[in-house]
Amino acid sequence: MSLKRNILDLRKRKEKVLQGGGEKAIQKQVAMGKLTARERVTSILDEDSFHEYDLFVEHEARDFGMEKKELHGDGVIIGTGTIYGEPVCIFAQDFTVAGGSLGLMHARKITKIMDHALKMRVPLIGINDSGGARIQEGVNSLAGYGEIFFRNTLASGVIPQLSVILGPCAGGAVYSPALTDFVFVVENISKMFITGPEVIKTVLGEEISMEELGGAKVHSEITGNAHFYAQSENDCFEQIKKLLTFIPWHNGKKAKAFPPKPPKAEYKIEDIVPADPTQPYDIRNVIKSIVDDSDFFEIMENFAKNIVIGFGRLNGETVGFVANQPMYLAGVLDCDSSDKAARFIRYCDAFNIPIVTLEDMPGYLPGVDQEHMGVIRHGAKILYAYSEATVPKITVIIRKAYGGGYIAMNSRHMKADFMFAWPTAEIAVMGPEGAANIIFRKEIMSAEDPEAMRKEKVEEYREKFANPYVAAAKGYIDTVIEPEETRKMLLHSIEVSNNKEDRRPNKKHGIPPF
Ligand code: HXC
Repeated sequence: MSLKRNILDLRKRKEKVLQGGGEKAIQKQVAMGKLTARERVTSILDEDSFHEYDLFVEHEARDFGMEKKELHGDGVIIGTGTIYGEPVCIFAQDFTVAGGSLGLMHARKITKIMDHALKMRVPLIGINDSGGARIQEGVNSLAGYGEIFFRNTLASGVIPQLSVILGPCAGGAVYSPALTDFVFVVENISKMFITGPEVIKTVLGEEISMEELGGAKVHSEITGNAHFYAQSENDCFEQIKKLLTFIPWHNGKKAKAFPPKPPKAEYKIEDIVPADPTQPYDIRNVIKSIVDDSDFFEIMENFAKNIVIGFGRLNGETVGFVANQPMYLAGVLDCDSSDKAARFIRYCDAFNIPIVTLEDMPGYLPGVDQEHMGVIRHGAKILYAYSEATVPKITVIIRKAYGGGYIAMNSRHMKADFMFAWPTAEIAVMGPEGAANIIFRKEIMSAEDPEAMRKEKVEEYREKFANPYVAAAKGYIDTVIEPEETRKMLLHSIEVSNNKEDRRPNKKHGIPPF
């Protein structure tokens, strides 16, 4: 064959593979409001930057009529490209080819690009749209998943791993995302479940729709499996790109620095927190009054809203924020908020991102429900994560810092590098009301006017402990600052901590209360 004919042959072969599962399957995909796998990849990456590999891979299954089936690319696209000019590895399952189900060769393509990402130290983006283990391939598909899960774990904390759920992800298809750092879901399109409605109906006799079982809202509001929720695929891709501006490409680097910008004038820190300590406010406004350009990129916005986590910049450097949200459940710690914060703290620690903690909370949520859901085990995760973290750790106590919450929210005792408190801070074992009722019970009960005595004792306790000065007198708080000084103090703390070194005892790894 002449070179020209060879090239024509190559083009013809490529064209065939690029048809994916064929016109009918593509039309079904489009009718569901979904982009095709290749459209997704090219929409996320910089224009013309996608380089595809393993285009000509074929499956090797020979049972259940598979020998007659031609599955283009074996239902997955892999390759490299750039985002904002920086290299990334990417894979996208193609639902038009056998429902994006995972057979041996499909899995090999994914593990190839995962190995590449880890070796090259670049982020891995996985677009998941799959019916799970390819049933006809039996144990080979299970083996494929196992190899993926192993690599997810190996890469965890080394390179960022982002999972995008853009279809019905069933069975094994959801566990790889669950092992990655960030999961993105899209309204009406994303579905995640271990066993689908059919199985539930057969085994339990219950009818439930895919949406109710594991739709985008379910995972961003109830289960906490998803970190980002979007209205459309394109919104989701914008979120991915924005996230990548805040995080480093691997754990040996810091996130890229941006030109510093002051916060927007409309966020006035001194006007956000009400004088009355029982009044709620939106802690996100405090964050916006501190960070560059008031640009706060929130993570898990709709799950465990009593704690707020996300990224912002201080003088151009990425910082992770963990903040109690007085607007929800008074900002208490509970099972879900502890899980949410603990995981984020570990992310920041793994990827060299300083952590700023803003504290205003009355402690752990009391109640049988929480106790029986394991608040001891879940609550311990946040203690573990803060204690373990060696990146710069700075805390600002805004109002309440009561009981276990005071300790947990990156206190000096968890080895915070800098501890600041506003003059409105109240640092005590518990709130003055509860404390007075317990320690002055006898005096209150035996008083002529118990209510007046109770009020007096509450005031006495408040005077003595519900302020930052007792803690400041012991050096647990480094200094009491005016709200307007917060950004300045944080900028300086981050600057001073630039070469922080914090050595810990040698060990293989700890045993966190998972
Ligand atoms: C082989 C599959 C498949 C699978 C879908 N297909 N899932 N082929 N193995 N797991 C094929 C279908 O046969 C069909 O092929 C095409 O993909 C499109 O599927 P439809 O059912 O027509 O699409 P839709 O109606 O949109 O429903 C999507 C779905 C459903 C909800 C995902 O296909 C489904 O329930 N699939 C099975 C899901 C499941 O139980 N997976 C778990 C596997 S066990 P044709 O040729 O007709 O177009 C597992 C265990 C791993 O994953 C555990 C690891 C820890």
